[in-house]
Amino acid sequence: MRDGLRKRLREATEAVHSSAEQQVDLRASIETPDGYCRFLSVMHTALSSFAEPLDHSSLLSGLAPRSATLVDALETDLAELAGERPAPRPHRPPSASSDLYSIGVGYTLEGSSVGAGVLRRRVTDDAPTHYLDALLGERRDRWTHYSRWLDDQATAVPTGIDPAIDGASDVFRCVIDAITAPPYEIVGTTS
Ligand code: HEM
Repeated sequence: MRDGLRKRLREATEAVHSSAEQQVDLRASIETPDGYCRFLSVMHTALSSFAEPLDHSSLLSGLAPRSATLVDALETDLAELAGERPAPRPHRPPSASSDLYSIGVGYTLEGSSVGAGVLRRRVTDDAPTHYLDALLGERRDRWTHYSRWLDDQATAVPTGIDPAIDGASDVFRCVIDAITAPPYEIVGTTS
């Protein structure tokens, strides 16, 4: 029997996934205000860049789209930390727009909530956590739903899953590029 789509995506993105997590861990230690700010900025870049395919994957899988909620939570955290709001700065525009590509983007961004509990425990008590709390609020239900739905798609995708692997990998690469780029530019102020 063919492996489920989640397992196939997990295996196909193993190297780029572990490289993204290592870089985030190395360069954005979230126990410090600077590191936490960097982590939030990177997720802001990834979520604003891939909002469209992410929301498309939510609709395809029967979930409520939530990119706007997450981007807003990130901006609130960043505003509280830095006193200013970052201008959305798409970093790596999606390179395709098919259903399969979006499904891959959804895998990486929905899956990023799996580690949120670990991260939440590492953030200092006084740090703003709107983003992590938003992820944790519906984490189990959402990720369980999405990963099961992914597996149900295995039979619906008899041909190659390369576009989905591209979508999933593009998000990890965006995270790597953003975390290794110069410090995030903060533009404009909150009113
Ligand atoms: C230092 C930061 C991070 C930590 C500590 C972390 C931690 C974790 C942990 C503990 C898991 C569960 C592993 C398992 O069940 O075997 C996980 C899964 C996952 N993480 Fe991360 N993560 C981090 C950053 C990210 C980022 C930035 C992304 C992508 C934007 C990401 C995407 C994923 C995905 C897609 C999964 C699910 C893999 C699967 O089960 O198929 N993570 N993470």
